[in-house]
Amino acid sequence: MTAEIYNRGQDSIYGGHLSEMEDVMQEVVDNIQKLRDEKKSEDADPVEHLLYRIKSEDSMREKCRRRGLPETTESALGELTDSIGIRVVCPFLDQVYMIRDYLVGRTEGCCGYELVEEKDYIRHAKPNGYRSLHMILRVRGYYVEAQLRTISMDTWAALEHQLKYKKALGGNLELITKELKRCADELASTDVSMQTIRNMVQRG
Ligand code: GTP
Ligand code: MG
Repeated sequence: MTAEIYNRGQDSIYGGHLSEMEDVMQEVVDNIQKLRDEKKSEDADPVEHLLYRIKSEDSMREKCRRRGLPETTESALGELTDSIGIRVVCPFLDQVYMIRDYLVGRTEGCCGYELVEEKDYIRHAKPNGYRSLHMILRVRGYYVEAQLRTISMDTWAALEHQLKYKKALGGNLELITKELKRCADELASTDVSMQTIRNMVQRG
């Protein structure tokens, strides 16, 4: 995703695991790509865009410190679960759950990845309005964090992240928080409407 220069030496927090981690990440991405290719022939690409990254050395060390963990490979790969991250942004709501089922489903044609943890912030939005489906997968001995969301949810998360409003002072913060929440809820309601329209279009 980014042209990050990783510390590939033994002093890296990832020890000698970096190339295996890259392989695991690529495997999951390739599988999603396979699903896209299949669906594209039906003229319905379920993915608007796809981002993936290995958490940078600096961010990983910073997160270890924040969590009170030693800056070790064991912390990075055994305690923390987002060293490998994949974000899938879908046009429509139902596609989020279709990709979820594809990744963890055990039936023919699915990936059957072990689901270690799932947080459905779509059905249960965070108090600030944040929505996404978060999954921690276990793939060939590595944790993979997958964030699945719609374009609307992604738009809100990107803008909210950019605002850095949490430093805002006093009463202002309360209003900003309330307005952001209102925008998140409006976008969520639009997602449901767009899904309804899509279903109508598909039924013909
Ligand atoms: P982390 O220490 O951030 O991993 O928190 P956590 O383990 O409680 O995980 P959670 O599933 O809540 O969130 C993990 C990731 O989701 C974050 O690193 C962000 O990418 C995203 N995220 C969660 N909450 C928010 C939010 O309120 N706004 C935005 N923009 N992104 C969020
Ligand atoms: Mg996390």
